[in-house]
Amino acid sequence: MKVTVSIIKADIGGLPGHAWVHPKILEFAADRLREEQKRGLIIDYFVYNVGDDMSLLMTHTKGENNPDIHGLAWSIFKEATENIAKKVKLYGAGQDLLKDTFSGNIRGLGPQVAEMELEERPSEPLVVFAADKTEPGAFNLPFYRIFADPFNTAGLVIDPAMHQGFRFEILDVYEGKVYLLDAPENSYDILGLIGTPGRYIIRRIYRKADLIQASVTSVERLNLIAGRYVGKDDPVAMVRAQHGLPAVGEILEAFAYPHLVEGWMRGSHVGPLMPTKMISIDQEKKIALGPKMTRFDGPPKVISLGFQLHDGYLEGPVDLFDDPAFDYSRQLAAQITDYIRRMGPVMPHRLPPEEMEYTTLPQILSKLKPIPVDEYEKNRLQYIQFVTSQASGQATTGPSHD
Ligand code: F6R
Ligand code: MG
Ligand code: MG
Repeated sequence: MKVTVSIIKADIGGLPGHAWVHPKILEFAADRLREEQKRGLIIDYFVYNVGDDMSLLMTHTKGENNPDIHGLAWSIFKEATENIAKKVKLYGAGQDLLKDTFSGNIRGLGPQVAEMELEERPSEPLVVFAADKTEPGAFNLPFYRIFADPFNTAGLVIDPAMHQGFRFEILDVYEGKVYLLDAPENSYDILGLIGTPGRYIIRRIYRKADLIQASVTSVERLNLIAGRYVGKDDPVAMVRAQHGLPAVGEILEAFAYPHLVEGWMRGSHVGPLMPTKMISIDQEKKIALGPKMTRFDGPPKVISLGFQLHDGYLEGPVDLFDDPAFDYSRQLAAQITDYIRRMGPVMPHRLPPEEMEYTTLPQILSKLKPIPVDEYEKNRLQYIQFVTSQASGQATTGPSHD
């Protein structure tokens, strides 16, 4: 049976600030999806959050980029913004809804989208990810490890079905170009690209032997849509597991190391990606409450839910980072947080100017009057005295350089 799994996510308001999603918003979305399930538009659904981002996971048979499915997500985000986020004045109500009108496809309107149409295998384990206070390229390193690094994924060496390797589809989000590169043959080229995660993003991965699709990641960049910086593009992704694809444990293993990603406070800092447990899962309501973003609006966090698909129905989820063996990764991420925070506004904790969400650098530069270095070296004493006399409100006749 062919099933499409669609994850569409947006930040439509935070409680408080950019820390968390209001539980009423998750309930509103779950209620709307239940109605659509009854009407038959979708087979099944699940609603969850990480920080201030709500994900709608939907299964159906309508294929990718379907106007009804995208329209449903768009109307849920819009209605929740109007009926809840704006009413109780959540912070940044409707933040990710960058355009006013929906015209058939939610891509390019602000929300993140990860969709995969698949032929359900006899057993279909599915691992979904969502991260907050970071960007889609944050998945580059762990996804490379899952599908190309035998030190992470034993199956690459010992499972004959995986031994030929995987084909990576990498998107250059600046040029709008796609690179198709195979691992292990082209692994140095792959790493050459994905080491710049703000530009080159691993979007889809296929098993080389039969081109079965194994993963998909959202790639929307909000600043490229809006033409200006409007916040980080907190990403979502999904990976199919087992039986000739990486095992669930091989997929999760790549997140045990909390690597450094861009985002965090004001979308302008580098910090560790912490694999985090959910707060609670309500199987009845089909809602999972995810972690809050409180330490310096972070640190960046990733959550993972595991499902078994059966005829499009979602059995689960299981909170996959809820394993004491990930406690050490969380501890390490907390230690890195503590360490790197002490750098304050200094790079590389603070991002380079072109990647920052906010920058006062042009204003600072426009009010300061730097002196050409040769001129300064010739009259150094005079210049120093001039600044001192200015500060003490004395004579103002000093050297002039411009
Ligand atoms: C980062 C993020 C937050 C905000 C910060 C300031 O993606 O959402 O860290 O950037 O809380 O928010 P404003 O400028 O809305 O006060
Ligand atoms: Mg927000
Ligand atoms: Mg967010």
